[in-house]
Amino acid sequence: MPVHHPGPADAAISFRSVSKCYGGSQGSVQALDSVTFDIEPGEFFGLLGPNGAGKTTLISILAGLSRASSGQVLVHGHDVVTDYARARRSLGIVPQELVFDPFFTVRETLQIQSGYFGVRNDPRANDAWIDELLEHLGLTDKADANTRQLSGGMKRRVLVAQALVHRPPVIVLDEPTAGVDVELRQTLWQFIARLCKEGHTVLLTTHYLEEAEALCGRLAMLKQGRVVALDRTSALLAGRASSMLRFKLDTPLPPALQANARVTGRIVQIKTRNAAEVESVLATLRAFGGQPEDLEIGRADLEDVFLEIMRGEPALSPPLLQPPRQVSA
Ligand SMILES: Nc1ncnc2c1ncn2[C@@H]1O[C@H](COP(=O)(O)OP(=O)(O)OP(=O)(O)O)[C@@H](O)[C@H]1O
Ligand SMILES: [Mg+2]
Repeated sequence: MPVHHPGPADAAISFRSVSKCYGGSQGSVQALDSVTFDIEPGEFFGLLGPNGAGKTTLISILAGLSRASSGQVLVHGHDVVTDYARARRSLGIVPQELVFDPFFTVRETLQIQSGYFGVRNDPRANDAWIDELLEHLGLTDKADANTRQLSGGMKRRVLVAQALVHRPPVIVLDEPTAGVDVELRQTLWQFIARLCKEGHTVLLTTHYLEEAEALCGRLAMLKQGRVVALDRTSALLAGRASSMLRFKLDTPLPPALQANARVTGRIVQIKTRNAAEVESVLATLRAFGGQPEDLEIGRADLEDVFLEIMRGEPALSPPLLQPPRQVSA
């Protein structure tokens, strides 16, 4: 679909010192604290953070559904408060919550959404695009089904179609793959990646860090409303945990190893920086009578990096990243 970037060559999205405080009788919550970063046109950008970090709050402010307590958000140069209509028209937003008017079919829901965004002169004008969306999202055979008859994963697909129906240059997805089956996840990502290649800007939040690692060129991590990391995905991976020791263990992990381990059922992963650290982990295990199975050493992934950053651990010091070159005398 053709992309029209309105306005001058601004950032696609610009968050400028955005703070948000929710007040209440129980006291107030500082959901966002001076969040500042830009997303450039055509970027595939990931916004990560644990539950309650402020991701959805930031997206609601971007969408004009909620007001920042202070700061400013621009979409292609249009302020989301003072120039709401133009900012909103540039955005296609897939919300985290499933919300529908249950009286319409899937196709009607999309046609109505087209109308909201001014594709209204000829209600059928957008039908070819609606057909394409239905096909890419595996909804063709549900086009005439009432939205209330759909399963949770299918409802989420309709939300994605709804967000894209007015061909927005900036696509914002708040956990679009939560509760979605593996096959659709893959087709959805192929489709969104294609739109990004065609020039669309994508802002994604997800708890599937493998997806974020595979898709996002740049990432911001939020923790308690603050940006605690902002960099290219490759730089975040390179500047953090160097390698992970992975094995299966049927006995309890020695206490000395627990602080640095990531345990999923029988699978244990421990960060190691060099061979001596690998030796020492294995020695500790043996001393405890542990027998690791399927032992392997692999590169740290985004999940390792994410956990490190959330624990507040510093990045690797430069000498570990780039060993000094041998200088011949
Ligand atoms: N309407 C509201 N009123 C009061 N507090 C709110 C409201 N919405 C969110 N919060 C609080 O703001 C903080 C950030 O919530 P937010 O939904 O933005 O987190 P999130 O990063 O999207 O989390 P998740 O990964 O669970 O979706 C939380 O402490 C939350 O309880
Ligand atoms: Mg959220």
